[in-house]
Amino acid sequence: MLNLTGKNALVTGIANNRSIAWGIAQQLHKAGANLGITYLPDEKGRMEKKVAELVEPLNPSLFLPCNVQDEAQIQTAFDAIRDKWGRLDILIHCLAFANKDDLSGDFSKTSRQGFSLALDVSAYSLIQLSGAAKPLMTEGGSIVTLTYLGGVRVVPNYNVMGIAKAALEMNVRYLASELGPQNIRVNGISAGPIRTLASSAVGGILDMIHHVEKVAPLRRTVTQVEVGNTAAFLCSDLASGITGQILYVDAGYEIMGM
Ligand SMILES: NC(=O)c1ccc[n+]([C@@H]2O[C@H](COP(=O)([O-])OP(=O)(O)OC[C@H]3O[C@@H](n4cnc5c(N)ncnc54)[C@H](O)[C@@H]3O)[C@@H](O)[C@H]2O)c1
Repeated sequence: MLNLTGKNALVTGIANNRSIAWGIAQQLHKAGANLGITYLPDEKGRMEKKVAELVEPLNPSLFLPCNVQDEAQIQTAFDAIRDKWGRLDILIHCLAFANKDDLSGDFSKTSRQGFSLALDVSAYSLIQLSGAAKPLMTEGGSIVTLTYLGGVRVVPNYNVMGIAKAALEMNVRYLASELGPQNIRVNGISAGPIRTLASSAVGGILDMIHHVEKVAPLRRTVTQVEVGNTAAFLCSDLASGITGQILYVDAGYEIMGM
């Protein structure tokens, strides 16, 4: 029943084989989606090479640079989607960034620059990419972003990223409200802690994972593929009645009071 054949899906946020976006891309591919992949370009072209090698088995029909802080790159990427595909069905927003200094220690020391950077890359980017996707989602669509419990409750060291995730989750609701009449659904997945490049910047991430393994109802944390399965579900017709929601894929940790 979960069939994404004929759907064009843009996946952002793959940095390596630990990325949650990589788990999502694999599961969308398995479900039959035609993939476009974006990567964060760097001066030496290292990320382009690494990500290109990784995603090759998924045969992406588009492979594009997209730094969400660069308006021109976003425009170029969505122009390429329009020219090559004509229509976009699925947008996976799976990226975030904050200065490492702002992901440990006293929250009250967060700098204005660090606050703006985290909110810009991690939350504003969903508005930007959804706005660019809207005119291309001519037959409806599904937008999925990735969030974390630290946007709803205080998690030690998550600090400014918690504020960014709170904004991101509210973005999901406002976007769902605006885009719903066009049959575009917008949802967030709140994933349990997973070791990735981004999460390794959060102070004490291993302690967080061990705590979840002790306390979560399933006595473990989750995998990138489990998050990918949920993303594939949210992008499919099986989830046609779901929009504006934050779905927890965290082995049940969120329900626990202690
Ligand atoms: N790993 C976890 O424990 C966890 C839990 C819940 C939610 N998340 C969220 O999942 C998403 C993916 O993170 P991940 O853990 O897979 O780590 P990751 O490091 O693999 O992915 C983060 C991605 O963000 C991209 N990125 C950073 N700045 C960018 C910019 N300016 N423009 C474009 N791309 C940019 C990076 O290139 C990278 O691909 C993030 O939103 C993260 O907050 C992660």
